[in-house]
Amino acid sequence: MPEHFTYKNGQLYCESVPVKALADKLGTPLYVYSQSHFTGQVEAIKQAFAEVDPLICYSVKANACLGLLRAMARVGCGFDAVSKGEIYRALRAGADSRMIVFAGVGKRDDEIDYALEKGILMFNVESESELTAISRVAARRGVEAGIALRLNPDVDPKTHKHISTGKRESKFGIDIERAKASLKRIRELKNLRLKGVHLHIGSQITENDRHAEAIAKVVPFIKEVKAADFPLEYINVGGGYGISYRGNEGLNITEFAAKMLPHIRETGLKMACEPGRYVSGNGGILLTRVIFDKPSGDKNFLIVDAAMNDLIRPAIYDAYHRIWPVQSEFAPDAEIAGDAGRVYDVVGPVCESTDVFAKARRLPATAEGELLAIFSAGAYGMAMSSTYNQRPRAAEVIVQGDKFWVARERESIEDLIRGERLTPREVFSAADL
Ligand code: LLP
Repeated sequence: MPEHFTYKNGQLYCESVPVKALADKLGTPLYVYSQSHFTGQVEAIKQAFAEVDPLICYSVKANACLGLLRAMARVGCGFDAVSKGEIYRALRAGADSRMIVFAGVGKRDDEIDYALEKGILMFNVESESELTAISRVAARRGVEAGIALRLNPDVDPKTHKHISTGKRESKFGIDIERAKASLKRIRELKNLRLKGVHLHIGSQITENDRHAEAIAKVVPFIKEVKAADFPLEYINVGGGYGISYRGNEGLNITEFAAKMLPHIRETGLKMACEPGRYVSGNGGILLTRVIFDKPSGDKNFLIVDAAMNDLIRPAIYDAYHRIWPVQSEFAPDAEIAGDAGRVYDVVGPVCESTDVFAKARRLPATAEGELLAIFSAGAYGMAMSSTYNQRPRAAEVIVQGDKFWVARERESIEDLIRGERLTPREVFSAADL
């Protein structure tokens, strides 16, 4: 079980707050975050990599809740952003722009310009065309753009195919041969400063030598770049550190760091990293209430009030999320004998057959109206939510110790139609174009 979510006397707590009280007060579906988890994970990374004093750029895409980003900034995090919107959010949360890296395979000119205006640390560049675009926009602004080349090291991260990025056939990064050729291009282009080399081989990687292997593969390239007198400062090792969803499959950060550190030392560069899920994943749960208990065919469906629009990971990656009643005499994952338990499919109300949170899961017998917690929902939960089926987005609550606050209000049905019109304000004609 995630450290900051514990059962005491059969009641689930987030830190020192009983989550049932939160659901009763604020309604469901509800995301509940433990701030101590987020800051504690950052601390764990800092300690594991202490000897190279890493720049931790928390990956905004995993969980972009402003209140949490603010907490991250306050413990010294920089940010990894993939869009103008993420840079804006990070800055609104109090980020230091000089600690922001900007990744992504397709950056528009206006996004590049915005990042330059704000003075970010560097762009993770993924193609030669992008080099040209950044140089052009930086020249227009009369500034120098810091860049890092994102290399594709052709390493198998051994993770789900949908979140694997480090193999040669993926759309991400530049293969090392091509990267060598682009050094010439970087010299020719104006307003660029090659500050770093970047890697990100995939997400939810649970084998602790995958990153080390990737870094080892790019060390010779880094040496060449340094020998050619480029002002390299950083090796950005990306994110992807796997966490525990079921049991203890998550990375041991100390062992993981021990594998990587010799290679990082060999580069002689400062280390940057972009953890997302490792910081946020086990720091959040999604609370949902059972609407109906529906026996059908040979199955028992628990139909809950959260759905794939709130948490899409099970629907699109077949992801496993632990589920357990908020009030239960049984400890999570306990073997439940006889009638005290039942095998359920836990499903949402959305009109899609993939709107399923768990299939054939043995849980304590659960009645209509009871609350369930869906665990490990702090990463890529709310961040990937939508309003599909015209379902307003859930509220988000941040807990710290025995205090909590609503970091994002529940959307209303009025919010769902904001920006739309029933009738035209002005009608244009094709002939006027
Ligand atoms: N850096 C880059 C360049 C990335 O593309 C990503 C994630 C990260 C860092 C952070 O990765 P993390 O430490 O969180 O694994 N929606 C999927 C995960 C997509 C990951 C996308 N890139 C999921 O729910 O599993």
